[in-house]
Amino acid sequence: MRVGILTSGGDCQGLNAALRAVAKSLYEAAEKNGEDIKIIGFADGYKGLIYGEYSRMNRADFSGILTIGGTILGTSRQPFKEIRVIDEETGVDKVRKMKENYARLNLECLVILGGNGSLKTANLLREEGLNIIALAKTIDNDIYGTDISFGFQSACDIATNVIDCIHSTAYSHKRIFIVEIMGHKVGWLSLYAGIAGGADVILIPEIPYDLDKIIEVIKKRHQAGKKFTIIAVAEGAMSVEETLLEKDERKALRAEYPSVAYKISEELQNKTGYEIRVTVPGHFQRGGTPCPYDRVLCTRFGAAAAELILKKQYGCMVGIKSGETVAVPLEEVAGKLKSVPVDCEEVKSAKSIGISFGD
Ligand code: F6P
Repeated sequence: MRVGILTSGGDCQGLNAALRAVAKSLYEAAEKNGEDIKIIGFADGYKGLIYGEYSRMNRADFSGILTIGGTILGTSRQPFKEIRVIDEETGVDKVRKMKENYARLNLECLVILGGNGSLKTANLLREEGLNIIALAKTIDNDIYGTDISFGFQSACDIATNVIDCIHSTAYSHKRIFIVEIMGHKVGWLSLYAGIAGGADVILIPEIPYDLDKIIEVIKKRHQAGKKFTIIAVAEGAMSVEETLLEKDERKALRAEYPSVAYKISEELQNKTGYEIRVTVPGHFQRGGTPCPYDRVLCTRFGAAAAELILKKQYGCMVGIKSGETVAVPLEEVAGKLKSVPVDCEEVKSAKSIGISFGD
């Protein structure tokens, strides 16, 4: 049996741990059943499948990679909206090429480790007749059909650690700190790291903020003798006013600042005169070794994926629901976003201890 495998989209911790788990489970099963398994690793996500860049992997390639960050296969972003567009320079029909390479390599199936965009392409390939198994990956935790995706917990540890470290300098200098956390469309990472790190204000895309409400929090803290405030803001957080703008107007406004944290910083500075600092950990949040939780999750996802391959149960994504791994049909997942419900328990408990969401 020949199994193709690729990692697609933004990298995260746990990709290697998941690759290792898929491969080891397949090799173990093949050995037990006296079968022959060949794994073909595509370079840099869908790019490798389109342009025929791949390596024949062997068992040793998947050893010693459990704790290593990034992906041994490499990754790239191949936007879904361009996947059917013929490449102007090369004339390449990407979907046709992917199907041709899959057939030429005589693959039984293709395993895709990816987030939302990659899952849309995975579903498209399924519709085109390829046997697909996907694994839910992203630090954003915004994949529909799974309670958690691998990478989220590791990124959450890092973002929390950033807020922890900012705490000591913030209280010593009596400053307002804005820590910008990854997440353009959803606020899971900011919500979790914000609560875990003891942020005073958490701003997420799902809850538009009112600057005056943030100022109220800062003033109240000052009056109570707490001269510092920590604001955890998701990259995609928006003010109430911004939600009323057209998309291009909003984009133009945002383009005036390096990112949302700087916009809020300038506005707060103008309105209050307080000393404000911005910290943007950025891609740091996606780097380094996966935390133990993710290592276990990746091992479970990988083993579940291998089991599906052995049963030839294709066209689904491996995720986790209520503590059990599940195989969710790709057509149910593709194109959907798992946003933070504004009345979820995490938001409610944060509010009940006095954390403001600027609303
Ligand atoms: O989807 C993961 C993510 O890290 C987002 O949180 C972030 O907004 C985005 O990717 C950054 O993308 P890139 O690595 O392409 O700059």
